[in-house]
Amino acid sequence: MLILRGPAQAVAIDPPVLLAPMEGITDRTFRGLVAPLGGLGAAVGEFIRITVAPVPARICRRDLGDPIGIPVAIQLMTPDVDHLADSVANAERGGAAWVDLNFGCPAPVVFSKCAGSALLAHPERIAAIVRTAAGATGLPVTAKMRAGIASPAHLRELVCAAAEAGAAAVTLHARLRIQGYHEPATWAWLAEAADALRRCARPVPLIGNGAVERPSDIARMRTETGVDGIMVGRAALADPFIFRVAAGGAPPTVAEACSWALGYFDALGGGGPKAKQLIRYWRAAGMLEGREDLRTALLRGPARDIPAWLRAQAEGSSTENAVLPSAQAKDATPPR
Ligand SMILES: Cc1cc2nc3c(=O)[nH]c(=O)nc-3n(C[C@H](O)[C@H](O)[C@H](O)COP(=O)(O)O)c2cc1C
Repeated sequence: MLILRGPAQAVAIDPPVLLAPMEGITDRTFRGLVAPLGGLGAAVGEFIRITVAPVPARICRRDLGDPIGIPVAIQLMTPDVDHLADSVANAERGGAAWVDLNFGCPAPVVFSKCAGSALLAHPERIAAIVRTAAGATGLPVTAKMRAGIASPAHLRELVCAAAEAGAAAVTLHARLRIQGYHEPATWAWLAEAADALRRCARPVPLIGNGAVERPSDIARMRTETGVDGIMVGRAALADPFIFRVAAGGAPPTVAEACSWALGYFDALGGGGPKAKQLIRYWRAAGMLEGREDLRTALLRGPARDIPAWLRAQAEGSSTENAVLPSAQAKDATPPR
């Protein structure tokens, strides 16, 4: 179990496994369908940027949605402390289990406004932001960061700046800003950060993140690096059952995996672009594993073919027939 200790309240995360914030993916619909599968201890919502006014409580309430049986944090992103204390208080009023602060977003539009990962060049600003946020709520406040912008040289200083300013835990995405999302993650940086956080003036837990691909990677990250919690990003979209299997539950059948994906599309009011987003990553129950040709065909075809393909898979039809419904329909249309 991982405990986040805030000034007035603590949050227990059991198992110590978290769903990462992923803008456009891990919204309340996705979270609400992954949590009941089991094995997930908590989730962090997609970032909300603080701009010209405090983030209202109603926005936090809307983003959180109905309770899903696990703690869910609101993540805020800001370049400075303007409107931060009020936003944090509103996140608490809106029902956040805790408040997470984003110091990792690499997007140029964020970086150019000196928010997200741009703050990794300014540990003193990270400290000021964490201190202001932690002073505005009784809830735990956590900081999610990368190992640096172009080098991990200041990693120890960065994680300790957040801890000593009052963070209840630090999450480290073990990549640099310049590495985006595709370079391999460097888990050695997690071990280094965990060590730094044990030795700093105010020791706090470390949540490790980056390149957890398979259920077994969750335990492996913990034993290899000494992190206190593990956060999973894209692999949760590739296989929403990753948490259940990591916790010792049964791997999903193809029918169960398809039914989950179809339920997800239904909950979204139809697949649309999210159907393609899912297929880009999908490998639950071994589906599309080693079948990049099929994945590409599904991505190139119309989005409406994807539910049809999933239904055919669930019924045990051959993938080749199932991938072609619209192609067949097109072939069957007489030339005008
Ligand atoms: C599409 C996408 C959106 C993301 N949005 C956020 C976000 O809103 N806040 C944040 O802190 N990190 C965000 N991230 C980073 C993830 O939380 C995570 O740190 C990253 O994907 C590495 O973990 P992984 O290798 O398990 O995917 C995003 C990542 C992706 C791929």
